[in-house]
Order: sequence, then C-alpha cells, then structure tokens
Amino acid sequence: MSDSSILARASSNGLDKVVAAETALSHVDGEAGRLIIAGYDLEALVATHDFEATAALLWSTAGLDPAPSASEVRAQLGAARVAAFRLVPVLLAAARGLTVTEGLRAGLSLLPDEDKDLPAHIRAVGSVPVFVAALCRRDEGLPAVAPVAYAGHAEDFLRMLRGAPASAAEVEALNAYLVTVTDHGMNASTFTARVIASTRAGLISATVGALCALKGPLHGGAPGPVLDMLDAIGTRDHIKPWLVDEISKGERLMGFGHRVYKVRDPRADVFNKAVMLLTNGNERVKFARDVEAVALSTLKEMKPDQRLDTNMEYYTAILLEALGIPRSAVTAVFALSRIVGWSAHVIEQERVGRLIRPASTYIGHWPDNQAA
Ligand code: SDX
Repeated sequence: MSDSSILARASSNGLDKVVAAETALSHVDGEAGRLIIAGYDLEALVATHDFEATAALLWSTAGLDPAPSASEVRAQLGAARVAAFRLVPVLLAAARGLTVTEGLRAGLSLLPDEDKDLPAHIRAVGSVPVFVAALCRRDEGLPAVAPVAYAGHAEDFLRMLRGAPASAAEVEALNAYLVTVTDHGMNASTFTARVIASTRAGLISATVGALCALKGPLHGGAPGPVLDMLDAIGTRDHIKPWLVDEISKGERLMGFGHRVYKVRDPRADVFNKAVMLLTNGNERVKFARDVEAVALSTLKEMKPDQRLDTNMEYYTAILLEALGIPRSAVTAVFALSRIVGWSAHVIEQERVGRLIRPASTYIGHWPDNQAA
C-alpha cells in the first residue's frame, strides 16, 4: 500500500457511531433533533434551571456525593471566582501574545489538580469567567474587573467583561445559552476529557485537554467564523454567489452540518428565541436569517447526498454578538459553560470507568523479512 493511501486510510476514521461510554448526563437524538440533559428535554431544562441549578443537576447526576444544591453551587462558584482573580496578574503575564482561548488554556493550566480549599470542579468552572473577562479587557487596554462573590455566574461574567452591570434580559439570555450548551453527549472535547480522566490525571488536567479540543473550528471554534462569513457576504445580493463559491471551493459553511444531528439542531431554536428577546429581530438578525435560508437551499442543491442543517453555532454567533461578547471570545464563552459538562463526565468516568485504550489496525509497512 502506498504511503499516501496509508495516510488517507489512517485519518479516515471519525469513530462515527462508536459507543465510547455509558453516561447518565445527556443524550443526543440526531434523527429526531432532540437533546436530553440529565433527564430533562432541553426546552424544559432552559425553562426551569439557571446555570448554577444546571451545574448542580449535572454534578449530582454524575455521582458527586453529597449532591450539591443550586444555592451551594452559587456560593462555591462565587468563592472560586474571587480566588481565581488573585491569579489574573500571573495569567496576563503568561498570556502575552495569546488569543483569548489560548489565554484561557494558560489560565486553567495555572490551577493544581489537587487543592485543599475548593474542589477541582468548582475551581475549574469558577475560574473561566474571571480569566475570559480579564483577557478580553486586556485586548481593549482595560484593567481587569474584580468578581463579586454573591452574584450569579452569568451576571458576574457580564459585569466583569463590561465594567458595568448587565440588564436582567441580558443575564437571562446568557443563562439560556449557558444552560443549553453545558453538555452534549460524546462530542470531541468531552471525549477528550474522559480519556484524560481515565488515566487518573485529575479533573483540571482533563479540562485543559478538553479546551484544546474545543478550540478547533470544526468543533467549538465555529461561531467566530460564522460572523466573519456574514461580514464577508455583506449584502443580500451577494448571499447566493458567495455561498456557491465557498462550497465550490470545498469549504465548509460554519454553523451548518453536524456529525449527529441530521435535522435542525434543537439548540438553534433556543438561541433564536433568546436573540429575538434581546434584539427584537434587528437588521443583523434579519440578514442572518436570510443567509441561513439561502445556505440551507444551496447545501441541498450542491450536496444532495448530505443532510446538512443549521447547527447551534450559527445562532450562538448571533446571540453572543448581541450580548456584546467580542468575536475573539465566543469559543471561550462556549467553554465557560461546557466545562460543567466536562467536569461532570470526569466525575462519572472516575467513578465508573476504566482506562480508555482503544485498538488500532496497523496498515504500515512490515519489516522486510515478515509478511503482512
Ligand atoms: C459543534 O459533536 C458535537 O456534539 C459538537 C457540538 C457540541 O455541542 O459539542 O454540537 C458543537 O461542534 C457543532 C459543529 C460546529 N462546527 C461547524 O459548524 C463547522 C462546519 N461543520 C462541518 O465542518 C461539519 O458539518 C462537521 C465537522 C460539524 C461534521 O462533519 P462530519 O460529520 O465529519 O462530516 P464530513 O466532514 O465527513 O462531511 C461529509 C460531507 C462532505 O462532503 P464531501 O466532501 O463528501 O462531498 O458533508 C460536507 C463535506 O464537505 N459537509 C459540508 C459541511 N459539513 C459537511 N459542506 C459544506 N458545509 C458544511 N458545513
């Protein structure tokens, strides 16, 4: 077998439909377009839980004992934000020249896996909004803003980011986003977290690895490029020609397609509602809707054998932009929520799992004196 076909075959496997773990944390039904998180349909969860309550639900479902209440989680996350703020000067010195996501990677790496004060899952989740807000303000030439221990996680993040309180509608919209993206089955970054947890490396180490996986544009790095796409298209008369040209070049349209969802990602509709609450359907939202409609019809025309629908990142981009979150920070804000799911999977994996070590098929050259 030639070297090029060896390389082609070696990279072809995406582990599609391979069951890597049993979990009680979430279930993704790609044919029905349904997401269940810890026993709740997504829509019911968003209607009844804020970020802290969802974190408490996932950690207790993962087997954390004693199971935390939402108010205990709120208090612990507040203490963790305050503790993380003491690391900001070290973080900013270490993150010089790094993007916000790379800076967050550096920040999480400052945390020890073991600590006598706060448990790892609380330190991991509590640190992210503090680091992300400080890195965003660094990019604006502004000083970091200290957290407020008694505030809610979403509310405190927006205040640390802006240096001023956010409106109740903005906090509600961000909570809806954060609750929605906490967990999503065995996606690439969650799988990464479980592999690292299975070696008993520690929760913080597992979340650092998971963040590295999330960073990729095929996974959590898509929202920024969605906004870049809308800007590149510019006007309604350019929508169709721009999309046709992009797909003809073999490029992927960011915010469309999904390994599991073969119909519209249910999360897109949750974000769409939140966007409407915030913007009342302004011109940017109307334009994004028009681009989405033409993208779906064009993908159908040009990729008739593929079932490519809108995924969550498309409306994530519109929602986070409407909340004034810098384009450079959208992946880090995804991590602000998904780190709850990663930590819950680590707790579950450490409780029930074994070392994750799959097999592989050798397709390389055999030594001359040995037949394949
Ligand atoms: C997330 O797994 C999760 O749960 C992830 C996530 C989560 O909550 O954790 O839901 C979050 O990652 C959402 C996805 C965000 N990514 C993007 O929006 C990037 C754009 N999407 C694609 O790159 C793609 O759809 C993937 C990576 C998401 C899934 O692709 P697959 O299943 O690996 O399929 P593939 O790349 O093998 O493509 C199959 C065909 C190809 O056509 P051919 O080359 O065979 O002709 O479909 C085409 C692809 O070109 N295709 C697309 C496309 N997605 C797939 N063509 C144009 N635009 C796209 N977006």
